[in-house]
Amino acid sequence: MRHNISVTFTTTSERREEEQAMLVLLLCVFLFFIFVFKFATAYGDFTLMSKKQPKRQEIQDKVVWITGASRGIGKILAKQLASLGAKLIISARNEAELNIVKSELKGKHAPDEVKILTLDLASGEDSLREAVQKAESFFPDSGVDYMIHNAAFERPKTSVLDVTEEGLKATFDVNVLGTITLTKLLAPFMLKRGHGHFVVMSSAAGKTPAPGQAVYSASKYALNGYFHTLRSELCQQGIRVTVVCPGPIETSNNTGMVSSEKRVSSEKCAELTIIAATHGLKEAWISYQPVLAVMYLVQYMPTIGYWLMDKVGKNRVEAAQKKANTYSMSLLLGKNKAA
Ligand SMILES: NC(=O)c1ccc[n+]([C@@H]2O[C@H](COP(=O)([O-])OP(=O)(O)OC[C@H]3O[C@@H](n4cnc5c(N)ncnc54)[C@H](OP(=O)(O)O)[C@@H]3O)[C@@H](O)[C@H]2O)c1
Repeated sequence: MRHNISVTFTTTSERREEEQAMLVLLLCVFLFFIFVFKFATAYGDFTLMSKKQPKRQEIQDKVVWITGASRGIGKILAKQLASLGAKLIISARNEAELNIVKSELKGKHAPDEVKILTLDLASGEDSLREAVQKAESFFPDSGVDYMIHNAAFERPKTSVLDVTEEGLKATFDVNVLGTITLTKLLAPFMLKRGHGHFVVMSSAAGKTPAPGQAVYSASKYALNGYFHTLRSELCQQGIRVTVVCPGPIETSNNTGMVSSEKRVSSEKCAELTIIAATHGLKEAWISYQPVLAVMYLVQYMPTIGYWLMDKVGKNRVEAAQKKANTYSMSLLLGKNKAA
């Protein structure tokens, strides 16, 4: 009798353990599928996706200087920041376009208090010094709180072999030399005040190989290196840096854009940029798949990431020449459907 009770007890407890193990397994499978679904439908990295709203108090009444504000992402950033109550300084080369943007801005300090500062990032240190002095003088009580380095120069996609010296110089003059010089001239003002925030529009091409865009990619890698280093040197003196790396973004002026390319809207890109900056994120990635997955692979499993990009490289350059989708999974197999 005693023996039978013991057998029954063992069987019941084993069954319970089996049931518990099965439950844990089911939960893991369920969580795995949720993770896969979330990742497949994500439009930003996981940290960025976890932040839902911009912190308005970080922007309201703050002075934000945006370069490249005359069109594209810069123009949308200006609109969203104005509506969050920022005091704006908007820059680009074309004054007429900046005037139109200014007239469209709405917010606590817009359009009346919005300052237009025309600026050519390729114009050299003396001219950029003048621009910084002007920007600092517009709102003398506060100076510039945020500098959003958004302006950039990008050529149509070409093979590495077709890069011209003129294209190389133009890209580096604007994207790298101008941006770094402006930073070097503005940072001392921020350091004197004990705070300042650089928001840098880099690119997915600054995190992964970008076949067909070697020089543009090199310029964005250069920015990532410079600004992450600047932060490490100056963060203890109040300087913050947010490097934003968007993949393909839909703007009103995408040249050579292919309809099948899945792009994040410039509104979403601007909103996520402001979320990243106001939450003090050091780096943020904005993109749909498959670019986002490639960014994760190259960052965390570079052997696989670079192997994958080696499969894609030649096909992507050919796809660009045929005006086909340059962000398609089918590039892995060498299938370039014309647009
Ligand atoms: N669009 C995308 O798919 C994408 C993807 C990843 C990253 N990004 C990055 O996001 C940023 C904005 O991209 P976007 O597509 O919105 O750019 P965009 O439409 O080409 O606009 C570029 C802006 O930069 C200004 N600019 C160009 N050359 C300049 C110079 N020498 N000096 C001063 N300003 C100059 C332009 O105005 P003026 O011509 O009047 O000077 C314009 O306002 C860039 O940094 C870009 O690399 C874009």
